[in-house]
Amino acid sequence: MEVIIQPTPNQLTVIASEIIRDALLKKPNLVLGLATGSTPIGLYKALVKMHREENLDFSKVTTFNLDEYIGIPIEHPQSYHTFMSEHFFEYVNIPTENQHIPQNTTDNYEKFCISYEEAIVSAGGIDIQVLGIGTDGHIGFNEAGSSLSSRTRIKTLSSSTLKANAMHFDGQINAVPEMAITMGIGTIMDAKRCLLLASGDAKSGAIAKAVEGPITAMVPASILQMHPKTTFIIDEAAASKLEEIEYYKRSYANMKKLMSQNL
Ligand code: PGA
Repeated sequence: MEVIIQPTPNQLTVIASEIIRDALLKKPNLVLGLATGSTPIGLYKALVKMHREENLDFSKVTTFNLDEYIGIPIEHPQSYHTFMSEHFFEYVNIPTENQHIPQNTTDNYEKFCISYEEAIVSAGGIDIQVLGIGTDGHIGFNEAGSSLSSRTRIKTLSSSTLKANAMHFDGQINAVPEMAITMGIGTIMDAKRCLLLASGDAKSGAIAKAVEGPITAMVPASILQMHPKTTFIIDEAAASKLEEIEYYKRSYANMKKLMSQNL
């Protein structure tokens, strides 16, 4: 597990976008797991810029989003379908048929969730999964208490998630859908690489528990300690409750030095 600490949220974006660009240059048919929320917006902007200015080609890329609300139409301004087209899909050349977002209007959710898992497998598995983290330590909509080996399924949102997401619904907590389809923690753990981005003081408690606390279903992101290739890319504020900051910074500086010598 690698922890990269940067002074500002903008630098997180630069590092995450460069990791994705390098992976895409090596593997044009990259399979990306994508996240919504405030945190990855800068990352999508940076990737769009690379597409426009460096001709970064997404034409063979396949994407799978982590989650989607149940109970609002996909055209709703706050649906994750709308989010993804407004922040990313409109501006890059990922074929529509390669874009996957959990379907929130199905008459058979169980069947849909199985088919979502099957689609990930038949695409060859997720190469890079982008993650945010909730203040309660959730990843996707896997709330505290989620099985650490769960697969794509329906979850009810915790009250802290409903409260955090109310800002996207004019501050109306009652307007936030209470349920969502989410990839499971087991689904996320199958990704070959995970990039978890977090910024701001509000995330510092969750980050400290996820990185340095015990592995527990009560902090779903803590399972990433068991993942062979996870990078936490966080700003100083989100890192502020970690105990081993000096070590993480020195490790990253050493890795950077080694990489530049090898080039
Ligand atoms: P945020 O959400 O990026 O809007 O903070 C992260 C999450 O809840 O997973």
